[in-house]
Amino acid sequence: MPDVPPHAPSKINLKDYTKPSFDVDTVHLDIKLFEDYAQVDSTLEMVRQTAGDIVLFGESLELLTITMNGKVLTTEDYQQEAGKLTIYNVPERATLDIQVRICPQTNTALEGLYMAGSGDDTMFVTQCEPEGFRKITFYPDRPDVLAIFTTRLEADKRYPTLLANGNLVEAGEVADAPDRHYAIWHDPTNKPSYLFACVVADLDVLTDSYTTSEGREVLLELYAKSADIDKCDVGMQALKDAMKWDEVNYGRAYDLDRYMIVAVSQFNMGAMENKGLNIFNTACVLSSPETTTDARSFSVKAIIAHEYFHNWTGNRITCRDWFQLCLKEGFTVYRDQSFSADQQSSAVQRIDDVATLRAHQFSEDAGPLAHPVRPESFVEINNFYTTTVYEKGAEIVRMIANTLGPDDFRKGTDEYFRRYDGQAVTVEDFLSALSITDDKIENFIDWYRQPGTPVVSGSQTYDSTAQTLTITLNQQTRHVKGFDAPKPLPIPVATALFDKDSGAIVAERMLLLDEATQTFVFENVASEPVVSLLRDFSAPVQLNYDYQDADLAFLLKHETNGFNRWQVTQMLVNRILLQGQGVKSSPDVYLEALAQTLPVLSADDAMLAARLLDIPSAQELASAISKDYDPVLVKEQRDGLYKQVADKLKDQWAELYNNLPMQSYEDSAEARGIRALRNVVLDMALTANVDDAADWAKQQYDNASCMTERFGALKTMVNHQLAGADKYLADFYERFQANDLVIDLWFSVQAAADDVTPDMVKSLLTHTDFDWNTPNRVRSVVSAFSSQPTVLWTAEGLEMYTGVIQKLDDANPVLASRLLQVLARWNTLAEPRRQMAHEQLVDLQKNVSSKHVLESLESV
Ligand code: PHE
Ligand code: ZN
Repeated sequence: MPDVPPHAPSKINLKDYTKPSFDVDTVHLDIKLFEDYAQVDSTLEMVRQTAGDIVLFGESLELLTITMNGKVLTTEDYQQEAGKLTIYNVPERATLDIQVRICPQTNTALEGLYMAGSGDDTMFVTQCEPEGFRKITFYPDRPDVLAIFTTRLEADKRYPTLLANGNLVEAGEVADAPDRHYAIWHDPTNKPSYLFACVVADLDVLTDSYTTSEGREVLLELYAKSADIDKCDVGMQALKDAMKWDEVNYGRAYDLDRYMIVAVSQFNMGAMENKGLNIFNTACVLSSPETTTDARSFSVKAIIAHEYFHNWTGNRITCRDWFQLCLKEGFTVYRDQSFSADQQSSAVQRIDDVATLRAHQFSEDAGPLAHPVRPESFVEINNFYTTTVYEKGAEIVRMIANTLGPDDFRKGTDEYFRRYDGQAVTVEDFLSALSITDDKIENFIDWYRQPGTPVVSGSQTYDSTAQTLTITLNQQTRHVKGFDAPKPLPIPVATALFDKDSGAIVAERMLLLDEATQTFVFENVASEPVVSLLRDFSAPVQLNYDYQDADLAFLLKHETNGFNRWQVTQMLVNRILLQGQGVKSSPDVYLEALAQTLPVLSADDAMLAARLLDIPSAQELASAISKDYDPVLVKEQRDGLYKQVADKLKDQWAELYNNLPMQSYEDSAEARGIRALRNVVLDMALTANVDDAADWAKQQYDNASCMTERFGALKTMVNHQLAGADKYLADFYERFQANDLVIDLWFSVQAAADDVTPDMVKSLLTHTDFDWNTPNRVRSVVSAFSSQPTVLWTAEGLEMYTGVIQKLDDANPVLASRLLQVLARWNTLAEPRRQMAHEQLVDLQKNVSSKHVLESLESV
């Protein structure tokens, strides 16, 4: 009896991993692009490793011929079924020659080789991670098969740019075809097929160079459309900064003579670390002051660094199988976060990283799509490029780094690179290298295996005679269905004690909570202190400590750790809005503490001041609610508190705003801080109905020196429905009509507007500039709209949203499934919304067929 229903998509399990029977030594690819198809000829030199057949993967390919050691194979020699081609009776060594035809022109899934753009503005690019290479040709498309690639590209001369991994060895005209040319590239590094890339296009290039610490001269090239080439300087500088940073901090230098980045307007994700030839979503590489907000520009630098860092953590040492995805992603995110922390205030960096983690990862971990950082099974690996794998994965590496301290962590990473360079490895291998100075590090393996966010609760008792403070902490993790009962994890809790009178720190210690309950005693404590826990967010847990509101206000004033100052404001907000820790607080203490802190801080550190005014979005607040969630009530309460803050400081906004005058554009942490705070103050002033605030907004828009100022003003005008906002929206469109990324902003500010309706979204979806084939454009409307839960969770809103998923299910299942994740927590809704949402999701299930979307709907 089969134990799965016949139509359930089949699961792949970590425990079933086996080594491939054959290795590939070399691959020669010959890719010829024609008007409406491409022909791909490949030659694979394969060598037996263990007993068994050759297993090749292939999808959406038209097989023309296949020969082995010169003999044409027939269906007697091989079998083809469901994306797989198995060749029987293979000798020790085999040379396979395979010819296939593919159709990049109709590839809307944006995996494999696809055409981007439209009309006479087209280009061809590849996306192979995780399993796109099998849409280019038959191949053992798995990350533990490493090979040397040589690639010949041939195309019409309309596409002068022909790029592939490695070094250019030859280029020229095609005999007998005067309109065609070719280029041959050779990559000297052994790599898995998911790191293959090629580009056939008509692009301009920004060129630079970098000399590595090992003395290698590297040619740096950033390719973009000619209209965008003036927006490549930020990315180029970030690349050089990242190359240097990796040499200084990890002793890792670049290993090829050439590093190329290509900007592509149609891309499912942010960017891709293909060996020596990164492919980037335009949104994640292009940046200029006039067209790009500071937040975006900052993330451009982080993503450039992220992809560069993959060269060592991902490419030279890669993953044995896709279950180990966090091996490269968690470590690389940790590395890019550390890089970014060196480019601005490290407190603000930590605040932003933790805010993202809490808003998205905690909510994923609390819902039906919860999975371990290293999953144990999947139907579709594309569904596991999640915030759990990436961001929680990075938190684990951070805990290890902090536990070891900088010197031992560096010893561990040196050992990791020394031992595993050139190999495809596992999380266990990573931990074993990192534990050379401290074998306790191996205990962190449970963090990779166990889903759910641990909740750390605690209290303190002070003994004035003994002069001791005892802190009791315990940990609890919810039991996620389908997994073993949760075990206690090693949780580092960075702690400081503050003297109540002077506000000075009297003790500082890293507590390691690795049992269910533990007590920690501090000696020689002269009077009962205020305890600050989890400083810099030393572990990805939820914290419940028996604070009084006054303790939190005290810490806002006296903490020296900027991250924890922000954290206490968030705890206060939680107590007000969500009865955090079972406490229902009145807003008074919070408002008073803000009123005292803000004027001083805004002069000292404007960016941090802007963050202290954060009140989590309605969407984020919802993620902390597990039952009877009422979106209307949460929004009302959230907006109510925001208004109270605005009113409390009403008399100060004008002065604050005027103390932050617009200056000519500069890309420094300080200037960015001033712009960020000015936008927050402007919105607060409008919320408090400060007399001239509407004029400030208009002037800020009209006199803006950069997009942060202009878009900040526009967004505020739209959200406050100011008279004339329409005129400004129209002006914005006019000014930036030719720039797709700015028009994405124009779509998103409307779709995310406070007063958006499903009808307004529908009209955006049918606007002449809307394009279903450009994921950035789809997200600019659909994801933006989903940030308004009161509209999303209505019958009409959901009907529209599920309609979008249905529409994309076939054309671009990766995108469809990612958009769908927003609905994962439908079951926390209060009735009657819950029932209504359930019915719509059941309906959706009947109308979709991709395994991506079906897997995301499994729990419905
Ligand atoms: N590996 C890419 C990154 O994190 C992300 C990615 C995954 C891009 C899958 C495309 C497809 O840097
Ligand atoms: Zn990555």
